Amino acid sequence: MDVYVAPGISYASEAKRLSSYLGATYLEVRHKVFPDGERYLRIEGSSRVDGKPVVVVNTMFPNQNDSFIETLMLINAAKKAGASKIVTFIPYLAYARQDKVFLEGEPISAEVVVKAIRNVGGDCLVVVDAHSEKVLRFFGTCTVNLLVFDKLVEKALQHTNNPVIIAPDEGALHRAEYAAKKLGLDYDYLVKHRDRETGSIRIEPKEISVKERDVIIVDDIISTGGTIAEAAKMILSQGARRIVVAASHGLLVGGALEKMRKAGIYRVYLANTLGVKYDDPLIEYVDILDVAANAIRSLLGMG
Ligand code: R5P
Repeated sequence: MDVYVAPGISYASEAKRLSSYLGATYLEVRHKVFPDGERYLRIEGSSRVDGKPVVVVNTMFPNQNDSFIETLMLINAAKKAGASKIVTFIPYLAYARQDKVFLEGEPISAEVVVKAIRNVGGDCLVVVDAHSEKVLRFFGTCTVNLLVFDKLVEKALQHTNNPVIIAPDEGALHRAEYAAKKLGLDYDYLVKHRDRETGSIRIEPKEISVKERDVIIVDDIISTGGTIAEAAKMILSQGARRIVVAASHGLLVGGALEKMRKAGIYRVYLANTLGVKYDDPLIEYVDILDVAANAIRSLLGMG
């Protein structure tokens, strides 16, 4: 089957590798920014996609807002070119943490993003570890949320003895459970409170059985590193030997690397879901494009 990949700027090299995994044709996209700041793009050779499926591949970090409009324009261009089906692969779906109205007057930002992708012409949406599965319901049918914690935790196991997987809050418990069940490990979770106004977090004291054990902390996003650093401190204070972290999306803003180093974290495994990679001895990236390719293949019935 002829399949085409239309890439966004910040994830173009990964999109190229994904198209090799799929045996698809990688389309070059020309970009420019107008003097007033508006963006322009054009899929080169787009007449080839008429009647064929197109996989639009773009991630939403860094430059969430630019990537968002770029993704919508790519989908629209593929649709205008006659694509028979458009699968949008967004490894990091930004705005997913605002998945409900927490405080009066707020929007559901996740709904805005996901519905826009659907309304502009996306038929299926594939993401990696959406902050919460429920954001995909805004899209309707044909969504895939890929969990890659088995891959990430498998890497972390190289550095651990007698490990236990810990989620830093209840929201991440399903991630710990997923990896633990696949790999036959123990798991538990901590209780986190976040101040919705200031964003500051507090991990509630909780007895967990980590004495003399190594701990793998799993989470979806590391943004400022506050959650992971606080969780690590709590776990180390209870007698754990070593902390290794496995997270899907390492945004690593606001001094996150330093915070995690100071908290005594030994190593951090991240999936390659972003348009940025940090070159730091603490960080190792794990390639998840094979998992994405398998999911896209089965959506497109590629055998
Ligand atoms: C929140 O519920 C998420 O799952 C992450 O725990 C959070 O976004 C991490 O943010 P930070 O690194 O700034 O603490």
